[in-house]
Amino acid sequence: MGHMAAGAAALGLAAPGKSQNRDPVGVVVASDIHLLPDQPLSARSFMMFVEDVNERLPDARYVLLLGDLMDWGTDESFELMAELQGHLRPRVLGALGNHDFSPKLEGDETGERSDARSLERFVDYLSYAPGPYYSFAAGNVRFIVLATERYHSNPSDVAYGGWISDAQIQWLDGQLATAEAAHEAVILCSHHGIMGRAWHTDVKPYSLNPAGPLDEVLASRRVDVSFSGHVHGQVQAQPEMIERAAGTTWVNGGALSHFRDGRMQCRYFELVDGARSIAVRSRDVADVRETPEADHPTGCFLQELDVEVELGHIIDLSGETP
Ligand SMILES: [Fe+2]
Repeated sequence: MGHMAAGAAALGLAAPGKSQNRDPVGVVVASDIHLLPDQPLSARSFMMFVEDVNERLPDARYVLLLGDLMDWGTDESFELMAELQGHLRPRVLGALGNHDFSPKLEGDETGERSDARSLERFVDYLSYAPGPYYSFAAGNVRFIVLATERYHSNPSDVAYGGWISDAQIQWLDGQLATAEAAHEAVILCSHHGIMGRAWHTDVKPYSLNPAGPLDEVLASRRVDVSFSGHVHGQVQAQPEMIERAAGTTWVNGGALSHFRDGRMQCRYFELVDGARSIAVRSRDVADVRETPEADHPTGCFLQELDVEVELGHIIDLSGETP
């Protein structure tokens, strides 16, 4: 790229300080690995994804993993997950899912201590950031990663919903205000969908609970894209994995451990300097119909989905270091 930029500048084709020739920044979005240390097939499924990214997506610079990294947040699972993620060539940025929480501690009626300990484990083992929710920027594209907690939402032992603390909502509001002031496009990442319901259902356990904790923030701040996981494809009657509401396009990231018809899918898009939009593509990681991995259960997308999303700001990668 250096040659092209220098050549263009020498010919007077590029405005000073502006380059349209920066390498695209590839971003892989995937979710719901549900790693089980005592089931080798689950680790092998994830390694098929690692191989796909490392070998066939040379421009991938980030991998967003949208929670339910493991099936149960034990130390053993965290350790193995950290080890497997270490094989990915791009930088990994993960989010917490309800399955990444540990069993409820004895005597912890509200689940608050259990949640707190799980949040610490997540930060310690996976070291994405100094806290369980965090943000980072690629050029002027701001990625905000939420941590949806579990027991606060559903006090019973089996809990699928996501809860967001007031402190985190305040933090999100601040992040969005700062991003807007800095002319950044915003991509929000979370395990649970932020639209207050799961795919064309109002099934409570599958959404944020109580519903709509972000409504006020989302009504007053701009979010260009929201990626989430959690819903693998088995609860919705309809195949849509995308929804547009209040200026935000919501896209499901895909479930890696969960095969339907032998396919395992994720998403991929590229940030292109000077572009006004991103094209989020649905990507087949592997066809496992004839392999032992087919025994690692359940469903993924019902059909492929590509979507073009216009951003609030033109992508500027001048601040991005390769
Ligand atoms: Fe989940």
